[in-house]
Amino acid sequence: MDDTTEISARLAEHIRAEIAAAGGLLPFDRFMDLALYAPGLGYYVAGAVKLGRDGDFVTAPEISPLFGRCLATQCAEVLDRIGGGDLLELGAGTGTLAVEVLRALEHADALPERYLILEPSPDLQERQQTLIQERIPHLEGRCAWLTRLPSKLRGVVLANEVLDAMPVHRFRIRNDGGIDEICVAERAGALVEVAAPVRSPGLVDAVAALHAEGFAHDPSYTSEINLRLPLWLKALGLALDRGLILLVDYGYPRPAYYQPDRTMGTLMCHLRHQAHGDPYTHIGLQDITAHVDFTAVAEAGVAAGLDLAGFTTQANFLIGCGIDRLLSESNEPFELTLGAKQLLLPTAMGERFKVLGLTTGVDEPLRGFSIRDLSDRL
Ligand SMILES: C[S@@+](CC[C@H](N)C(=O)[O-])C[C@H]1O[C@@H](n2cnc3c(N)ncnc32)[C@H](O)[C@@H]1O
Repeated sequence: MDDTTEISARLAEHIRAEIAAAGGLLPFDRFMDLALYAPGLGYYVAGAVKLGRDGDFVTAPEISPLFGRCLATQCAEVLDRIGGGDLLELGAGTGTLAVEVLRALEHADALPERYLILEPSPDLQERQQTLIQERIPHLEGRCAWLTRLPSKLRGVVLANEVLDAMPVHRFRIRNDGGIDEICVAERAGALVEVAAPVRSPGLVDAVAALHAEGFAHDPSYTSEINLRLPLWLKALGLALDRGLILLVDYGYPRPAYYQPDRTMGTLMCHLRHQAHGDPYTHIGLQDITAHVDFTAVAEAGVAAGLDLAGFTTQANFLIGCGIDRLLSESNEPFELTLGAKQLLLPTAMGERFKVLGLTTGVDEPLRGFSIRDLSDRL
């Protein structure tokens, strides 16, 4: 047994023990939490390569430095308006975005006071530190890793593909119109899915709210919901004194998320660049993810006292931040064009990925949302 197989076996054992302790049924969100984040064993916290060509999936900062340069343009605008401050990146992956944003801000003479990173994965934290030491050693002193949110932050919070990695609750509509919760059970040593009476607090009310808006009614309709989002945004809202929270991810406004023909929700697994729908294989060795309901993000942000600054596609956002100018100014335009296409094309990441901004104390419009603000679709 190699190291990764052994970790996977230990994680499966750990999950089976939790299932037994929970009386035989574990709500899906807890399973996802353990599969991704169980200390020392979960996908994000143990040694799996995860991101990049040798890993399981590639994210925008890894595809092209233009992504970070565009985000830096948006950060510079906000930092300028609020008289300077810090950047805080949540879930910084390999550290590539941090490197590109800091390089671009240095070039624009607009460095933040500090670049803070909150990263729950010790393994990724180490990779981020190494990359920053290698690529921008002279800026290392500005970088600091946090174990929890700061109590008072002025500046910009960045989170690329973090929301999709948050554990979700799953539900299924019964033939009688009632709601079941998708739980995980053990059968002959294997992990299997069971639809059972709801046991997670808040899930019935959350699905009833979807019903009241006309969504998720049909028998067998199965989907997911991120019940942790309101508390997460409340904590961010409390931490942010003045500035912007920029959330980039794949997802939809609610009407598209819960459209009638999306009968199995959006849960997906990534293993070695293959996407599939079975979260109960390769436990701890594959990513498990769900799309983001951006209407829920906007609602939770506003409930947390933040202003919705804009919502748009990744392509519109990058164009608003001047990706074409950055491309033409670059001395490696041909190398960068390929990556720019992937970031922008509707058939690649341009439309599937969205950007949502939440602000406090920043009243003027933001350039990232200047091309086309789609907030009215939320
Ligand atoms: C899909 S990866 C994206 C990494 C990186 N942002 C990128 O775009 O390449 C998800 C990241 O979010 C982190 N993460 C998950 N939950 C988090 C939370 N509550 N706060 C901060 N980071 C979190 C994970 O450890 C991981 O680094």
